Amino acid sequence: MNLTDKKVFITGGSAGIGKALIEELSNHGVEEIAVMGRTAEKLDALEEDFPSVEFLKIQGDISQLDHIKSAVQKVKEEWGTLDMLINNAGVVSAGLLEEISDEDIIDQVNINVTGLILLTKHMLSLLKETSEGALINISSGLGYIGMPFYSVYAATKAAVKHFSEAMRRELSDYPIHVMTIYPTATDTAMMETAKVDDMDSPKEVAKATVDGLINKEIEVILGGEKQRAMVTKNMNEPLKVDEQIKDQFDAIRKRAEEHRSM
Ligand SMILES: NC(=O)c1ccc[n+]([C@@H]2O[C@H](COP(=O)([O-])OP(=O)(O)OC[C@H]3O[C@@H](n4cnc5c(N)ncnc54)[C@H](OP(=O)(O)O)[C@@H]3O)[C@@H](O)[C@H]2O)c1
Repeated sequence: MNLTDKKVFITGGSAGIGKALIEELSNHGVEEIAVMGRTAEKLDALEEDFPSVEFLKIQGDISQLDHIKSAVQKVKEEWGTLDMLINNAGVVSAGLLEEISDEDIIDQVNINVTGLILLTKHMLSLLKETSEGALINISSGLGYIGMPFYSVYAATKAAVKHFSEAMRRELSDYPIHVMTIYPTATDTAMMETAKVDDMDSPKEVAKATVDGLINKEIEVILGGEKQRAMVTKNMNEPLKVDEQIKDQFDAIRKRAEEHRSM
């Protein structure tokens, strides 16, 4: 896929993996990027950080349908076309299920899944007009392998996985490449409250994503061979994975006990 001249809409492009994706896309010649996020200052900073990019800054919350509708309206008015939608914004709140607040459960589902689906739905009429485009959904390693203390987050990311797969099949008559990304622990603000040492950099995730796009991969699984083997094992021998996780239960609890980025 040739990325030059593509018009890209990304949620959560003002930090972490999303911001690294903007850098990687800009290095491949993308010059027009619409970014949706809740914090105006973080959106404003993008203009200084990436002077070669013309930004359409959209302050809004992906969990609010009226914000989604006005974001789509803005793209229609300003651009009239769209080549690529990157559903990247996400939040996490870990813990034993009965210890996660009701609000954090509702917000994780609304931001990570419902908002993502609604934004995709409302952007589709624009996206379907592209001559060569993409729909990229950022899931998580936990979308493939459910882990204790991440029941809600893992459920949202598994939903993203299946939504993405279904959309790939639904859009097969259109020149829209649908791909799903599965990062494992990545060194961003989202992980500040998790106790994890060995993390990918957001740049590594962004590079793997854009390389995957250029090569038209449908899935990009981060975390190396070890993670890919674990995904296969979880699919074929889930009870063996249960045993493995039972042994690591306290260590996982320790890593997750304060993990919250909402
Ligand atoms: N970091 C990891 O280890 C990891 C691993 C696997 C998957 N992921 C996934 O990768 C994606 C990016 O994560 P990250 O680590 O880069 O997170 P991050 O550093 O916390 O950045 C999240 C971005 O999303 C935006 N955002 C959050 N809630 C939003 C909302 N309701 N509406 C609009 N924008 C919102 C944030 O901006 P505002 O706060 O200003 O809205 C920010 O720009 C997420 O989907 C995450 O689940 C991350």
